[in-house]
Amino acid sequence: MARLQSHTGFTALALALGACERPPAPPPALPPLPERAASATEVLGEPRPQRELSLVLTGDVRGEIEPCGCPTLPFGGFERRERLLSRPIGFGPVFQLDAGELLTRGISSTGSDRERRARVVLAASAQVGVLAWVPGPSDLLGLSPAQMAAIPSPRALSATWLSPAGEPLFPASTVLEQEGRRVGIIGLSAAPMGSSLSGQVQVRDPVEAAREALAELPTDLDLVIALGSVADEEADRVAREVPGIGLMMTTAGRGYTDVRAVAGVPIIESLDRGRYAQVLATRLGSTPDRPVELHPEPATWRSLVQLRSQSGAASTPALDGAEAALASLASGRNLGWLETRPLAQDLDGPTRVSALLGEFKTTVLNEAAARAAAPPPPAEPGYATAASCTSCHTTQFARWSFTDHTRAWQSLVERQATANPECLPCHTTGFGQPGGIGELTTASVRAFKGVQCEACHGPMRGHPDDPRVQSGPVTVERCLVCHDEANSPEFDWASYLPRATCQTESLP
Ligand code: HEC
Ligand code: HEC
Ligand code: HEC
Ligand code: HEC
Repeated sequence: MARLQSHTGFTALALALGACERPPAPPPALPPLPERAASATEVLGEPRPQRELSLVLTGDVRGEIEPCGCPTLPFGGFERRERLLSRPIGFGPVFQLDAGELLTRGISSTGSDRERRARVVLAASAQVGVLAWVPGPSDLLGLSPAQMAAIPSPRALSATWLSPAGEPLFPASTVLEQEGRRVGIIGLSAAPMGSSLSGQVQVRDPVEAAREALAELPTDLDLVIALGSVADEEADRVAREVPGIGLMMTTAGRGYTDVRAVAGVPIIESLDRGRYAQVLATRLGSTPDRPVELHPEPATWRSLVQLRSQSGAASTPALDGAEAALASLASGRNLGWLETRPLAQDLDGPTRVSALLGEFKTTVLNEAAARAAAPPPPAEPGYATAASCTSCHTTQFARWSFTDHTRAWQSLVERQATANPECLPCHTTGFGQPGGIGELTTASVRAFKGVQCEACHGPMRGHPDDPRVQSGPVTVERCLVCHDEANSPEFDWASYLPRATCQTESLP
């Protein structure tokens, strides 16, 4: 973390803001410079008429349309994001951006499922106000670059991805304009790994790509932002080697910091699965080529936002004092206040985007019902359910019965999520699979609830009479389908395996 040190100017502003009922503090003098060694970017710049705008960053949403059922941090979702953005959250017009790794969720297995989810996630992003996004590697699993580029809103950008023939696939940059504020966005996508994905795009060096894109942007912008999924080291290189970028916003890197500064340029990372929004309020008091300096106390601007919305257009002594302090603080500086906002329960409530998400879920349920009702492909077995294994594998059944896998359905009951297709694939067995659970009837729920034998051993209808029906080996990949990094962040094969299989010997 390399946020600015607190100093007298900031303190005066905080005092003015805190002291609503007392007489306003006198406008403070220009704040002294931070006490660190002054690099070129830390000296006050040329003062400009001050402008305000706010940025809201998400990224790494990974197809998650609502809070996951995770035991820890069940935050996120488009509905809560819409509610967050419906309240006053910053200064000036709000620009909502998404750094990518947006479209796909591990569990949606087939291509058409992934494409449907990808389209819904983009439509929901547009509805909650995302203006631009930058496709990242995992997004290629959901839509092809041509499909992404064809969707007008939110606009996909990438200066680094070219077609295999070397042609641009996306605009390298765009200028977003809201209420007279103009922000230039440059898209920097990461290089995909693995031949199936990397074959789809040719990847340019981000420094070179960012330089070129910057040169093509108009000069009358309020701020230039580099956005995308580039790896930590590449983001650092861009910050160091491409002067003129005011701010970078990226998907989560490998480090644990969600914000760092390189050559004075803040690099803000999104947080996982859309659980949080990074909200950056800015007061821009210098030229757009100067990096944004992050103020260490978000509470300061938050109270100013509150003061402003409370007093409406009227001027009050407390507000005037705070405004004067802010104006003097931002003179010759591009200031930003960053706050990580969890999309938690307090944001629940009706929203516009609910209809879209509801329709999506209904379609998924209907398709699952149709698929489950269809016969399995020839040579592939259907599901037999755990009840049918008892007679011959009594020991395994008894052991399994005492594992948490048998209570997975109960967890959905407790969360009132028994008809939620966002949860069913992991808390039932064979959801939407031929011969598995589709339509949610009392009988089908009784047969398939919980994580049964066939979730690990594969569908086994016909066993043992039909010698072709065999359990595949139970490998870690089986577990990871459900124990993914969102729903089971602590998963570890060696310690989990002995705790919840038919081999588990912890009978009471
Ligand atoms: C990708 C698979 C997956 C999806 C989707 C999923 N879960 Fe889970 N869930 C898990 C796994 C795995 C665990 C166990 C995590 C652990 O302990 O490591 C779990 C644990 C839970 C628990 C905690 C159980 C306990 O008491 O320890 C609850 C509650 C829960 N899930 C509810 C939900 C709800 C509600 C949804 C849908 C919104 C959902 N889950 C979607 C896989 C999933
Ligand atoms: C009628 C008795 C019977 C029933 C019912 C039965 N099994 Fe078996 N199972 C056997 C026999 C016998 C073997 C050993 C011979 C073989 O491999 O076919 C076996 C072997 C297995 C094996 C280890 C060998 C392999 O295929 O990898 C697994 C796993 C297994 N059964 C799982 C199941 C599950 C899951 C069910 C319920 C869906 C089930 N069995 C139902 C009799 C049965
Ligand atoms: C079909 C999805 C699914 C698969 C496959 C699956 N699990 Fe789970 N697992 C769950 C869910 C859901 C829970 C949470 C149950 C509950 O609601 O309490 C869970 C819970 C557990 C727990 C208890 C965690 C705790 O917090 O105590 C262990 C251990 C576990 N699983 C191990 C495994 C292992 C090992 C594998 C692979 C061999 C595996 N699971 C495969 C869905 C799955
Ligand atoms: C969480 C995953 C998981 C679940 C659920 C599960 N098993 Fe297993 N099962 C395993 C593992 C792991 C083995 C060890 C052999 C292997 O790796 O394939 C195994 C082995 C077996 C074997 C081979 C004989 C033995 O005991 O080694 C049988 C039979 C069997 N399971 C039946 C069942 C039945 C019946 C159920 C449901 C009542 C069930 N399993 C549920 C993971 C699971």
